[in-house]
Amino acid sequence: MTGAVYVTGAAGFIGSHLVDRLLEQGRSVIGMDNLKLGRRSNLEKALAGPRFDFIEGDVNDVAAATERLRRHRFGPIGEVWHLAANSDIQAGAADPEIDLRDTFLTTHSTLRLMEALSIPALVFASTSAIYGELDVPLREDTGPLFPASRYGAMKLASEAAIAAATQMFVERAWIFRFPNVIGPRATHGAIFDFMAKLRKDPSRLEVLGDGKQDKPYLHVQELLDAMFLAREKSGGAINCFNVSGDSSTTVRYIAERVVASAAPGARILYGTADRGWIGDVPRFRYVTDKIRALGWRPKLSSNEAVDRTIGELAR
Ligand SMILES: NC(=O)c1ccc[n+]([C@@H]2O[C@H](COP(=O)([O-])OP(=O)(O)OC[C@H]3O[C@@H](n4cnc5c(N)ncnc54)[C@H](O)[C@@H]3O)[C@@H](O)[C@H]2O)c1
Repeated sequence: MTGAVYVTGAAGFIGSHLVDRLLEQGRSVIGMDNLKLGRRSNLEKALAGPRFDFIEGDVNDVAAATERLRRHRFGPIGEVWHLAANSDIQAGAADPEIDLRDTFLTTHSTLRLMEALSIPALVFASTSAIYGELDVPLREDTGPLFPASRYGAMKLASEAAIAAATQMFVERAWIFRFPNVIGPRATHGAIFDFMAKLRKDPSRLEVLGDGKQDKPYLHVQELLDAMFLAREKSGGAINCFNVSGDSSTTVRYIAERVVASAAPGARILYGTADRGWIGDVPRFRYVTDKIRALGWRPKLSSNEAVDRTIGELAR
């Protein structure tokens, strides 16, 4: 890996941890975020050092970003880690423009920027949502794919746009299909939502759905370990990986653990639907042979990752 790194969605949950990790590795990093979901405070440590530059702006303003990066003091950009997206699936169900603009167009715009500046390598944050609701263990080559949310559809379209770009100007791309990623600084998700609800009313917790939703959770630091290892060890033009451990966690488990930590004794009220909202996929399992073959496996089970995150947030 050579040259400076450009990170979109840098002030968000995963993006800000990624920036910290890249800086620890000695890289120079330029982060971009419109602060719609992300927070400048997530980048406090990065901003205090000399090898980080933050651009507050919209990824879709390609002309402005190209201008800022063309003669940057950090030199030519060696690679882009594209994480900017609408991470709020429910907001995307309510407003059809959100995922088109922030989940798909940001990818198209990032590719245009890469073409303009001849940046050779791209790492992309994809998701289990591209698979939709398939009742089989999900392999990277499972298909055909019919996503259940606009968010999933726009991520799948992004993967397609990246694949096409590798036939033209992107030399190498890595697509990581994340599970549910958790840890400090999260901007959404069950742990985040439950904690916010209990801060408002510590006597009760209303859960969306019946609590039986059951999915793999991965701590953000273990996700980054997997991405850096695969970035290092896989050499094709287009490299696609499911990332998760073998185990999973129910929403019921999360609700009980958050209540025990944040508001002991609060009543937990479950809904009746098998899912939390339109576009929610109640359960999935990844086949992770590809990433495991590179030597990665998480140290924490899914439940342990949940417990660690709740502990980190309680501090
Ligand atoms: N957290 C998860 O469980 C999870 C799971 C699967 C995939 N992902 C993907 O990982 C990436 C990071 O997710 P996250 O959980 O850190 O979410 P996040 O919302 O914390 O981070 C996304 C960031 O992108 C920024 N952004 C959105 N649209 C933008 C635009 N047009 N211009 C500039 N900035 C923009 C937001 O302000 C936010 O800071 C996203 O692409 C998300 O889809 C996350």
